[in-house]
Amino acid sequence: MKKVFVNGYGSIGSRIVQFIKDDPEIEILGIGKYSPDSKVNEAIEKGFKVFVPEKNQNAFTNFSISGNIESVLDEADLVIDASPGGHGFKNKKLFYEPRNILSIYQGGETIDGENAVSDLLFNSRVNYNDAIGKKHVMQGSCNVTGMGRILEPLRKKYGDSIKRFDVTLIRRWADIEQTEKSVPDTIELTQSPHHGEDVKSYFGKESPLFVRAIKVPTRQMHLHIMDVRFNGNSPSPDDIHDLFANEFGVAVLWAAKGTKDVREYANTMNFSFKDTNMIHIHANMTTSIDDTIQIMYSDDQTGIVIPENHMLMQAMLFEKSYDEAFNHTEKLFNMKEKKHLLEEHFAKKEN
Ligand SMILES: NC(=O)c1ccc[n+]([C@@H]2O[C@H](COP(=O)([O-])OP(=O)(O)OC[C@H]3O[C@@H](n4cnc5c(N)ncnc54)[C@H](OP(=O)(O)O)[C@@H]3O)[C@@H](O)[C@H]2O)c1
Repeated sequence: MKKVFVNGYGSIGSRIVQFIKDDPEIEILGIGKYSPDSKVNEAIEKGFKVFVPEKNQNAFTNFSISGNIESVLDEADLVIDASPGGHGFKNKKLFYEPRNILSIYQGGETIDGENAVSDLLFNSRVNYNDAIGKKHVMQGSCNVTGMGRILEPLRKKYGDSIKRFDVTLIRRWADIEQTEKSVPDTIELTQSPHHGEDVKSYFGKESPLFVRAIKVPTRQMHLHIMDVRFNGNSPSPDDIHDLFANEFGVAVLWAAKGTKDVREYANTMNFSFKDTNMIHIHANMTTSIDDTIQIMYSDDQTGIVIPENHMLMQAMLFEKSYDEAFNHTEKLFNMKEKKHLLEEHFAKKEN
């Protein structure tokens, strides 16, 4: 059985390990914690072994930790790094590369320049097969993953008849459980956002994609406002919604008033971590004007990348075909059922 270690137990690491612990094809060695806080006992209570940095072990004497990260990594076949942005690169150099371990990195890293963790930015919908045989791969961030889920089906169907994509990312400030982070009363302007370049890493540098981003004081979800311009008349809103009817990880909702409605419904339905693990096209906002389609969709920032990590893990660890990996991920995440429930609950209200 292949052994997997999850290094980092924050918003992303805690979710990844909670889902993939139920995968019978792998053994979870444990999780890496860096601060001696209440999350250590939370992880232990959930049945995970906790490992800490060797040089910091003394700080954890009041906790039942299982050893140090350096030693447990010697046993791992694959590590999922879920550290704060930029630390993944340092971990690669210090720990993963010297041990020759397969490694997955998260969206706060980069694939450009001297701090690149990989030359591949993964999106299962676009480049699943490219991850097979790779040692180090970066999972795209939540915004990049969400954009890929919309753009790939559009590109596949409409190809050269699309003239350009203009996207405004309205990003959440913090995650719901990041209570230590305050949410200031401001709209922050993001200079030179990385998201467009990240998407272009798989769509090609010359793709006509233009991205701008702001951050707003909410914890619920991101919202993307996308204008797709065509050569000639644009398709109708119904054409666009039909295109996503059978797409993995895309729900088409009509009656959600805002992002909080979606999160609250996920909570009511006991979806793990209040996550939907997908994006939600707000169909009542789709408009077709001459050559342009305007689309809005919300992006479950914490949830969307979790099934992606599971798909990526299967490509790297078992070299599975896309279909095999997809079916296995579906068993753990029940994405089809969640999509169906969301679409039913937020269905179009007939007048
Ligand atoms: N949050 C999101 O919505 C989201 C979505 C997509 C992608 N991402 C990406 O996922 C990554 C993790 O983000 P997050 O939101 O989960 O961060 P987070 O909640 O701040 O958690 C980071 C975790 O990493 C641990 N850590 C600290 N130093 C570390 C090190 N040197 N090596 C390994 N782990 C270390 C922290 O441990 P202690 O708590 O013990 O100090 C904490 O458990 C980032 O690259 C981020 O950009 C985040």
